[in-house]
Amino acid sequence: YDMCEDTENEYTYEKLMKIREFLAERIHVGIICGSGLGSMGEAVRNSVCIEYKDIPSFPISTVQGHKGRLIFGYVSDVPVMCMQGRFHYYEGYPLSKCVMPVRLMKLLGVTHLIASNAAGGLNPSYKVGDIMLQKDHLNIMGFSGNNPLRGPNDGVTNLVRQLGMEDDVHEGVYTCMGGPNYETVAELRALKVLGVDAVGMSTVHEVTTAKHCGMKCFAFSLITNICSIDYENGEEATCEEVLDVGKSKETILKVLVENVVKFIGEH
Ligand code: 6GU
Repeated sequence: YDMCEDTENEYTYEKLMKIREFLAERIHVGIICGSGLGSMGEAVRNSVCIEYKDIPSFPISTVQGHKGRLIFGYVSDVPVMCMQGRFHYYEGYPLSKCVMPVRLMKLLGVTHLIASNAAGGLNPSYKVGDIMLQKDHLNIMGFSGNNPLRGPNDGVTNLVRQLGMEDDVHEGVYTCMGGPNYETVAELRALKVLGVDAVGMSTVHEVTTAKHCGMKCFAFSLITNICSIDYENGEEATCEEVLDVGKSKETILKVLVENVVKFIGEH
């Protein structure tokens, strides 16, 4: 980043090792809560919370609907660390800074990442409140790069289907736009042509980094609004609406995380 001469946005190995020393524990599963999905953190038992502002060199989460803390504890008897609040590109952080916690998770022993997000549904068969398992993603922000993509984990996928919401669970393609604004109708039409089923502002770079670190990933979207590609009809999503849908799905999301972590612990 030729524009910034300071070292604030640089995460060297040495700097990460200092953060690691501070946290000094070994964890198995990393969980990232999406916007309005922070309640998934309630699945963590015997928890210890550390505010981002108290961790050396950690960025702060500036977004509404994000708490900004790490939770250490157990889900289904598996040691986990959970990010209640992630870092987005639109907050002004470079992507390397957005994914820093994923590298930190790796250093703390995380082998499996569960990443979640709130997303707008483009696929006409999706409804508000549905869950989309990310079977693939489109790294639009990295079109000039060459990143490996994650495939599905059949075992976990089947397990999610057992939640008793068969009609409300999909497997689809997710993409991340830079934000902070939602997409124009023309942009949504273009994304549709590209095969995108749901659009958000996160996760792609985290999964790419996790894969690069050798972690297994399970990512899903909660469909919080339906994207209209019609100029005459359809309303823009609001931040409140996105957070409300997350709240209405608190229980099912908690069960989902418990089941996925249990599955990981047993395999
Ligand atoms: Cl419509 N777009 C993006 N980029 N992110 C979202 C969204 C839409 N709805 C929730 N998150």
